[in-house]
Amino acid sequence: MDRPLKHLSITMTAFILSGSVASATANKPRIVIAHRGASGYLPEHTLASAAMAYGLGADYIEPDVVLTREGIPIVLHDIHLETTTNVASRFPQRKRADGRWYAADFTLSEIQSLQVHERIEPKLGHAIFPKRFPADLALFQVPSLEEMIRLVQGLNRSTGRDVGLYPELKSPGFHRQAGHDIGKITLHLLEKYGYHKRDANVFIQSFDPQTLKYLRHELKTPLRLIQLIGENSLGEVAGVDFDTMRSVTGLKEIAEYADGIGPAMNHILTPASQNVKNLIKSTGLTEAAHARGLLVHPYTARADQLPAFVSSWDDLHRALFEIAGVDGVFTDFPDKTSHYIQAVRPTKTR
Ligand code: G3P
Ligand code: CA
Repeated sequence: MDRPLKHLSITMTAFILSGSVASATANKPRIVIAHRGASGYLPEHTLASAAMAYGLGADYIEPDVVLTREGIPIVLHDIHLETTTNVASRFPQRKRADGRWYAADFTLSEIQSLQVHERIEPKLGHAIFPKRFPADLALFQVPSLEEMIRLVQGLNRSTGRDVGLYPELKSPGFHRQAGHDIGKITLHLLEKYGYHKRDANVFIQSFDPQTLKYLRHELKTPLRLIQLIGENSLGEVAGVDFDTMRSVTGLKEIAEYADGIGPAMNHILTPASQNVKNLIKSTGLTEAAHARGLLVHPYTARADQLPAFVSSWDDLHRALFEIAGVDGVFTDFPDKTSHYIQAVRPTKTR
């Protein structure tokens, strides 16, 4: 909010020299999407983290969605439980042959008896982000998606603000094999809480194009849909070619069922020089998506894990908003992203 503009103008020089500043992006709305809540400060996907993100000025709270054994949507990043909870000590016998504890094998009641902590590497026990909330302070629970919705709506009432939800449907194919339709279940829950019209303050995201097409064309949802774009090497969705998705043909197809894309940072930004840091240019993906009427919301801004091609938080945000010209960003630090946007160019965010 009060970031000195003088500082910004000095470090902006490198970008100006690259000749890539996108003046066409001036004054357009851009949104702060709190990635798994305020996950830079409190354990991801807890009600505490969501409430903090709300208080820090997020425009949208992101819950990743996974189903329990009964098919109840819960807020969890992985289909497994051991990276963020004490499931291994609480239910030592309930792991599968692959040594992992699956949310799909547990009831909501069992899952809510677990304690949630900061994300760890489960075999070694160390925190993935060592400077974040202490990993041995497991003060939290896994919320249901319904609880998360009620929290955000409750805060909207008590503050008079209108913060939205940005749920991600995790592993639809895995849930289908377990007998559950995660798309339909999530859509029905959103509808129960009033999110059923085109102007509802919600985006639904997924890496799986078939699921998004199903929501749009068969379930006829008017809600805004975002096609996440991953890496073919990571195999987020079997059989999906994310490289093709980023081509002109791919974007044209996405525009037939979705309202925007959620690419990784390196899909939209690339170094302009191998030798000089901070000389960055757009890959052209954002411009190509905008030409087809698609929003662009890249993931994920992390102050403690910056991409190699920038050297500071402000550099990253200048590259995202002024060079690529994105419409919003998933961020683990919603206050810091919000401060950048407010300091550089205050705009209405919806
Ligand atoms: O949903 C955007 C981004 O969150 C995708 O990555 O793995 O953090 O869910 P992930
Ligand atoms: Ca996500």
